[in-house]
Amino acid sequence: MFSRRTLVLCAILVTCRADLTFPEHFKLGAATSSYQIEGGWNADGKGESIWDRFVHENSADIKSGATGDVAADSYHQWREDVRIAANMGLQFYRFSISWPRILPTGFTDKINQAGVKYYSDLIDALLAEDIQPIVTMYHWEMPVKIQDLGGWTNPLIVNWFGDYARVIFSQYADRVKTWLTINEAIAICDLAFNKGHYAPKIKEPEFAPFLCNKHILLAHATAYRIYDREFRPKYKARISLANFDLWIKPATENDTELADLGRQHAIGRYSYPIFSKQGGWPPSIEKLMLQYSLGQGYQYSRLPPFTKDEIEFVKGTADFYGINHYITSLIRSAKPGEDPGIWVLTGSPELNAILEFPTNSKVANSIFPVYPEGIRQQLSWIKQEYGDIDILITENGFGYSTNDYELNDVDRTKFFKEYLEQVLLSIKVDNVSVIGYTAWSLIDTFEWLDGYTIKFGIHEVDFSHPNRTRTPRTSAHYLACVIRARSLDVPDHCYKDKYLADRARIGYRSGSHKIQAVLFINILLIAIIICV
Ligand SMILES: *[C@@H]1O[C@H](CO)[C@@H](O)[C@H](O)[C@H]1NC(C)=O
Ligand SMILES: *[C@@H]1O[C@H](CO)[C@@H](O)[C@H](O)[C@H]1NC(C)=O
Ligand SMILES: *[C@@H]1O[C@H](CO)[C@@H](O)[C@H](O)[C@H]1NC(C)=O
Repeated sequence: MFSRRTLVLCAILVTCRADLTFPEHFKLGAATSSYQIEGGWNADGKGESIWDRFVHENSADIKSGATGDVAADSYHQWREDVRIAANMGLQFYRFSISWPRILPTGFTDKINQAGVKYYSDLIDALLAEDIQPIVTMYHWEMPVKIQDLGGWTNPLIVNWFGDYARVIFSQYADRVKTWLTINEAIAICDLAFNKGHYAPKIKEPEFAPFLCNKHILLAHATAYRIYDREFRPKYKARISLANFDLWIKPATENDTELADLGRQHAIGRYSYPIFSKQGGWPPSIEKLMLQYSLGQGYQYSRLPPFTKDEIEFVKGTADFYGINHYITSLIRSAKPGEDPGIWVLTGSPELNAILEFPTNSKVANSIFPVYPEGIRQQLSWIKQEYGDIDILITENGFGYSTNDYELNDVDRTKFFKEYLEQVLLSIKVDNVSVIGYTAWSLIDTFEWLDGYTIKFGIHEVDFSHPNRTRTPRTSAHYLACVIRARSLDVPDHCYKDKYLADRARIGYRSGSHKIQAVLFINILLIAIIICV
């Protein structure tokens, strides 16, 4: 009835479409964090966090002296956040809970009922729109009282964090099915203490990053074990943490070993103890830190050891792998006399290595290099290192300096398309179990030291309007189309206009691997269909 040629043409169409379709279980959402959007910094009994204190005492450190006192005012405008998320058809919304909004002192002496109600109402409103809440328990808002007792460098924080976790599980475990304990531990421990530029504004790069590293893993594990014992039997949620994983590639063929060491330093220190079969610190880093510390004249490693019990306690405390992906870097040894300096997030004197951005990865206006292949390579590496675990991309996004685009964020739209293509290849070609993708961020936010000068939002926030009006950008239209189609094969109007459609389809580099890989699968499937 049909000619072979017609069948082949059909096959091409079918396979092309199939290749760009997301699996049924793959979920698409967007994220924010409490300090960056809520405002209401002292509203209704909220306690002070280290970021409240930092912005009020160090306004010269922040662009234009900005603060998060009001931010996007989500403490009052949260119904708008739910509305725009629902308009897009988001399957989940990742937000964080402010520790001192729930526990003003950080301790459980007093529970702030207004704070409890705020997140409870938000969760209910999301569920009413069929949007799953993904809740981050710590996105950098340490209560000042706990900071004054040493914060993450005090081993007692392990139990204090556990107490906090139990309070919020008790309030929300009946409705929350995905939890993230800690957001970007490497930023909390390495970035903050190496430079002292972030709250709590303490510069101590020798011991603090490593004490914090250990205690944050134990705190995470404590929260996980509390959930396991007291809540999982009844509620069956999944728990993990969101790591900021710098993807590191060797600059030359001679830097392969160094690249592995670099990854263990920047990723393994926060992942290996939880996700590896052996547990504990990555062996290569344990060795490096001991040698380096002895060389400095210390009598033991600055990387505090885990006891056998601690290794077992931390190991396996995650139900999936959460990854915030932004940056791919190339690593090479420092030349004689060259200062390795501080990397994007972490220290590197121990490695004596330099990180550089890949050539061609610069996109005008982007604060980070754009290198879509990096996310696919990193996802494969996680599978290779930690086995066939489900991976949730908990953040990925495109930030630019203010006034560059207004609402027509063409480069961010292209960014999402190109990164999602790589995620799809990871799922379909590399057989990596990626279960979801989170766009950072749902709305423009207070971007820490950059104040309001860097925009990540797929919705613009009018920070001069008393209501902080939210308006969708082109990237929000595009992602809404992708969610509706469950595919990257979306009509031109999703790019809003023809000019944008053409640009978005061209991509950053022609002839990239991804296109070849997609074509290869198509040809293979066509060949199978013809032969059968
Ligand atoms: C790698 O090292 C070898 C031996 O030192 C050297 O000859 C070669 O030029 C290096 N390759 C690169 C790309 O730097
Ligand atoms: C993909 O991974 C799953 C889980 O490990 C495995 O069962 C399956 O055989 C793999 N598929 C392919 C095509 O490699
Ligand atoms: C702000 O929002 C409130 C409540 O939706 C509305 O009544 C008010 O008119 C808005 N204010 C402005 C200036 O748009």
